[in-house]
Amino acid sequence: MAKMFRSILSGVGHYVPEKIVTNEDLSKIMETSDEWIQLRTGIKERRHFTPGVDTCANMGVKAARVALERAGLSPDDIEFIVFATLSPDYFFPGSGVLVQKELMGDKTVGALDVRDQCSGFVYALSVADQFVKTGMYKHVLVIGSEIHSTGLDMTTRGRGVSVIFGDGAGAAIVSRCEDEGRGILSTHLHSEGQYAEELAVLDPGSSREVRLSKEMIDEATGIYPYMNGNYVFKHAVTRFPEVINEALASNGLSASDLDLLVPHQANLRITTYIRESMNLPEERVVSNIHKYGNTTAASIPIALSEAWEAGRIKPGDLVCLAAFGSGFTWASALIKW
Ligand code: ACO
Repeated sequence: MAKMFRSILSGVGHYVPEKIVTNEDLSKIMETSDEWIQLRTGIKERRHFTPGVDTCANMGVKAARVALERAGLSPDDIEFIVFATLSPDYFFPGSGVLVQKELMGDKTVGALDVRDQCSGFVYALSVADQFVKTGMYKHVLVIGSEIHSTGLDMTTRGRGVSVIFGDGAGAAIVSRCEDEGRGILSTHLHSEGQYAEELAVLDPGSSREVRLSKEMIDEATGIYPYMNGNYVFKHAVTRFPEVINEALASNGLSASDLDLLVPHQANLRITTYIRESMNLPEERVVSNIHKYGNTTAASIPIALSEAWEAGRIKPGDLVCLAAFGSGFTWASALIKW
């Protein structure tokens, strides 16, 4: 059997758009309040992209450049791109190829888009891990990037969803490592499509007789995200601890071994519930949702990059990434840093 390698995250980076939108700002365009939003979600502000400056792909490139610099690598070292998003630049092609164009120029590498919403980054990381540990590639670029702000109903009708989501991007370089003692220990991926429509944007869908009609826009049902909030909450608080424990158990470890948990930033109430139910102290769980809202596929790499910058991740630390989201999908990755 061919030699297996370990994959490490040799660099992490993030980029968020300049424009800050506070709860107060939202309350000027819809019937909502800072108090309602903070109490229910923990969010104080989020970022919205600037048209003409930020795109889903170029925010990913900006995050990737930071990750590359921290890894001591150049774009030339990248052999494969995995791009996770639910808000791609185009219906097709995927945003990964746009990253290849902007970052790599003449060097043609494979670019794969991953569509697993809030779990997208962990899914993408798992794909990169398989390519690196089998020896196929030495350095894979993994990006999570989202522009939600143009896809939300910014009226009172859409307030239950639109106050939650924000724009941003994060990236990681997954690199080959020969040291058995560190790297991605395991990844765990799940889906349960019977709940696909409980958190979804249905239109424009390819199976409709007419893909996009004036009625769809006027009625504004399927073109904006639908979320069964209570339902999502109930499943999330079960699946998060389950998939974290699955990762720990499959490596013979327990929650007390964890140095840092980086959960998808869905909602502060969900994060608090996980932390309390798993008996983890506050300093071992990353939370930055107050600044950025929920950035779906970008939320874990942004949180990871900020935690790294703040010195919260040291070599040898046991770090768990965990996500739950639309699909429903959920996933975890356990990493010895
Ligand atoms: N501002 C003010 N009032 C609002 C807003 C708002 N932004 N949104 C809804 N309301 C109103 C509703 O209209 C409703 O009014 P009514 O009682 O007169 O009918 C009232 O507030 C309560 O609405 P609910 O939807 O029942 O509010 P709830 O307390 O359930 O909170 C929330 C909604 C925060 C979404 C909650 O269901 C939740 O935490 N869900 C978890 C799902 C989640 O956080 N998803 C994040 C994204 S998905 C993911 O990443 C996995």
